Amino acid sequence: YSLRHLNTFGIDVQARYFSAFSSAAELESLLREGPAANGIPNMILGGGSNILLTRNFDGYVLKNEISGIEVVREDDAHIYVKVGAGVNWHSFVMDCIANNRAGLENLSLIPGNVGASPMQNIGAYGVEIKDNFHELEAYHLHDHAIVTFDNAACHFGYRESVFKRQYKGQFAILSVTYRLNKNPHFNTSYGAIEEELKHMGIQELSIKTISQAVINIRSSKLPDPKQIGNAGSFFKNPTVDAAVYEQLKAAHPNIVAYPVEGGHYKLAAGWLIEQCGWKGRREGDAGVHARQALVLVNYGNATGRQIYDLSQQVLDSVQERFGVELEREVNII
Ligand code: FAD
Ligand code: EPU
Repeated sequence: YSLRHLNTFGIDVQARYFSAFSSAAELESLLREGPAANGIPNMILGGGSNILLTRNFDGYVLKNEISGIEVVREDDAHIYVKVGAGVNWHSFVMDCIANNRAGLENLSLIPGNVGASPMQNIGAYGVEIKDNFHELEAYHLHDHAIVTFDNAACHFGYRESVFKRQYKGQFAILSVTYRLNKNPHFNTSYGAIEEELKHMGIQELSIKTISQAVINIRSSKLPDPKQIGNAGSFFKNPTVDAAVYEQLKAAHPNIVAYPVEGGHYKLAAGWLIEQCGWKGRREGDAGVHARQALVLVNYGNATGRQIYDLSQQVLDSVQERFGVELEREVNII
């Protein structure tokens, strides 16, 4: 079964078995009666926008297509919305904005589905989902129980959660409940948003104008996977302690970094990669995006292995030049 159209890198590999499911009951019967019952490995797939497939998958790919957006609770300040894992993330954000529910507008236009949003605690422009996450329901793939995780149980961090660590590969997320605000708290702390709002000539902030500003910024520098294969940032922005930062700053006065908790600094990996001369470089059909060096791209027929090898070269040169180790953000399959 070709996965080419099911991953935004557009990598052409095969899965031995493939099924889609649209409820927990359907997932349960696929797991108990299908090929998975014979103990072959399985993989839950959402929109395929944060994976790099490096070879054929000799197992069972189960695509989550659970739909539905439902208000489950309301109080003076908040509205709780339960969303099926298979709902497209951006359409859910647009639904929030249309219904005047605030909190996710800075996360407009992130590809992928709602079910994957807690996997790496998706974030952009000063907001992460953990700021508005209430709880999720997940199906344990081996003991078939449905478990509820609240915010604390997910151990959210920067591009991190318990589902990427100790529970990796163990759960299918079925639904996520978000807690949205009736009264918006606008977050325009990210410099690029302020600039874009000014550029748009916006006088009065609203969740709609913030969303539009984010859409404009993203469209101007991130490649559209429909045109050029990619999975967004390939690496995380690395965190270093103050002493390391001071040394780097002395040697490279233009380094781009900002302070984070614990006296640490987060470095812009895109800057480090650009300084190493990678921006816009291309090796066969694998390349480093010309407008955002943190994004690796597939110009057509690159293999997952070629993209991975390019990422290794990038990683090695940043290590050599700056002594900083980059960590891949994309899930390597
Ligand atoms: P997939 O790629 O299908 O899956 C990702 C991982 O989660 C896989 O390991 C998969 O097995 C697992 N998984 C998926 N769904 C489930 C489920 N229901 N239950 C259990 N496991 C599951 N990310 C950001 O955080 N911020 C950004 O600004 C951002 N910008 C991007 C821009 C572009 C152009 C692209 C292509 C990607 C960007 N991303 C960004 C990355 C990506 O959009 C997010 O990580 C997104 O949440 C992935 O969703 P998905 O449904 O495509 O997940
Ligand atoms: N920069 C460069 N050269 C580049 C790219 C970036 O010098 O080629 C420097 C610039 O100084 C720029 C700064 O890095 O101002 C930050 O760049 P940008 O605003 O594009 O954000 P980023 O740090 O590269 C992160 C996330 C993105 C998210 C944006 C906006 C990570 C790994 N990436 O990118 O998330 O959309 O911030 O918040 O944290 C993703 O995860 O897939 C993703 C796209």
